[in-house]
Amino acid sequence: MNIQWYPGHMTKAKRAMKEDIKLIDLIIELVDARVPYSSRNPDIDELGRQKARLVLLNKADLASDKGNDAWVSCFASQGIQAVKVDSRSRASLKQIQGAVQEACREKLERNRKRGILNRPVRAMVVGIPNVGKSTFINSYAGKASAKTGNKPGVTKGNQWIRLNKTLELLDTPGILWPRFESQEVGLHLAFIGSINDQILDREDLAIELIRLLSREYPLVLTGRYGEEVRGGTDIPQAAAALENIARVRGCVAKGNEYDRKKAAGLLLDDYRSGKLGRLTLEFPGQEL
Ligand code: G4P
Repeated sequence: MNIQWYPGHMTKAKRAMKEDIKLIDLIIELVDARVPYSSRNPDIDELGRQKARLVLLNKADLASDKGNDAWVSCFASQGIQAVKVDSRSRASLKQIQGAVQEACREKLERNRKRGILNRPVRAMVVGIPNVGKSTFINSYAGKASAKTGNKPGVTKGNQWIRLNKTLELLDTPGILWPRFESQEVGLHLAFIGSINDQILDREDLAIELIRLLSREYPLVLTGRYGEEVRGGTDIPQAAAALENIARVRGCVAKGNEYDRKKAAGLLLDDYRSGKLGRLTLEFPGQEL
């Protein structure tokens, strides 16, 4: 299966990001908790050197507790604080308040020592497309936030949202480019819906998802679609499973054939919305 990448504007994006990062103190980096490796931008460590960092394992509600905990520990071992988050829920965001304060603490302390007392820490939310940046900003900054007006430097139109006395957040997130490393990374990004389905063959993608689920979570498919959908780790078995999903879900195309494309869409939607369960696809230390 061949995934078409879109590396065209990467150099330009990198240059722009470098400039934006100069204006901030804290990088709030969102990754997808189901695929924290694949959904992380490979250059952010380099771009964010010298800056305070906070990683949010977003969509933690769709990933397993075991996976989430493993990733929090993994980031901690690299000296980066990571927090599990469901950006759609304001309650879940309450717990990150402390983490943000902690991440800013050093910067505020440094300012204080230099006699700079009333300058808030400036933060920017970054992440690859669809990881939940806008959702996070909307929930976190909420209606209570007051815009502070334009500041020069950042792409026109960007505003700083004053969250409290010590923190200002850029209202526009930084869009990062995803990894371009391997076919497997590409597949994982496609499973979560980060790569436009239109450039992929949904049927092939669903077959690959069935293979992965059969390997890592062997009971999930029968749990959702019944005993007839057993899955399998090789392509013919997985293709047969897709056909079975079409059959049990009544996906029929013209000429009374089973509609595997429709079944593929169904399966992908079920995975993406958590209907198959909270399924983490990547764990720390895995080779991808
Ligand atoms: P982006 O700015 O990084 O591109 O992402 P955006 O906020 O637009 O979020 C992309 C999708 O992810 C949205 O769903 C959003 O609701 C969902 N999302 C964001 N954070 C979380 C989370 O923590 N948990 C879960 N389960 N979903 C989250 P959508 O279907 O594209 O839009 P909508 O129908 O929800 O509005």
